[in-house]
Amino acid sequence: MTSPQDRLIIALDVNTLQAAKKIIDETSDFCTTYKVGLELFSACGPAAINLVKQAKARVFLDLKLHDIPQTVSAAIRQAVAQDVDFLTIHALGGSVMLKKASQEIGLQCKLRLLAVSVLTHHSDAEIKSMGFTQTSLELVLNLLQQAYQTGIRGCVCSPLEAPAVRAAFGPHMTIICPGVRPNGSASNDQSRIATPTMAIQNGADHIVVGRPITQAANIKQAAASVLREIQEGLYAKK
Ligand code: C5P
Repeated sequence: MTSPQDRLIIALDVNTLQAAKKIIDETSDFCTTYKVGLELFSACGPAAINLVKQAKARVFLDLKLHDIPQTVSAAIRQAVAQDVDFLTIHALGGSVMLKKASQEIGLQCKLRLLAVSVLTHHSDAEIKSMGFTQTSLELVLNLLQQAYQTGIRGCVCSPLEAPAVRAAFGPHMTIICPGVRPNGSASNDQSRIATPTMAIQNGADHIVVGRPITQAANIKQAAASVLREIQEGLYAKK
């Protein structure tokens, strides 16, 4: 069974191991997975992965891979060697890249690939200005369909899109939602957002929360409060 703590993923969007360790030390009672993203990985490399593993937590490596298929699968091989649990890949990389990535993981490996479709800071107007004619939801579903067909069974999407994603792919798709803002907190640069309770009710398996926790005056209190909001979502779903 997935505990409420397993549902929360905290984004370690900092640039030193010390800052990351401080967040982990303060929040390890409230979550079992930490996201190592571009900033921390560029600054500290695999030491950031080791830091999370030493805390006996799972690693979500958010590198949003998008390159030629050969390069992406070579990167995935390294992530597998480092015992990463979740790894993001851009669905916009196309079916050949996605298929090779999916084959690299195979059936034996515990690493779960997560297809990223449309980043949550994009508004519909911005998506249009990039030349896409579909609505953002249509684009999300098309991109995820392509990823699903190659064997990928995890995705990152906005909590507002989670109901449609769940309806389209059923229980075998792991849905992870960033763009989550606890009741009463600032939206920052995220535009398609929901509260933790709403995100869970909408079908998210896990939510990713960064700044509302990591930049809070009291990190422990902020994490505890997000966990309570997750629990409310789980009760409401029963
Ligand atoms: O601070 P905040 O809660 O907005 O952090 C959200 C995290 O989730 C960031 O690390 C960001 O890179 C990541 N993310 C996102 N939207 C996606 C995929 C990942 O915001 N579609």
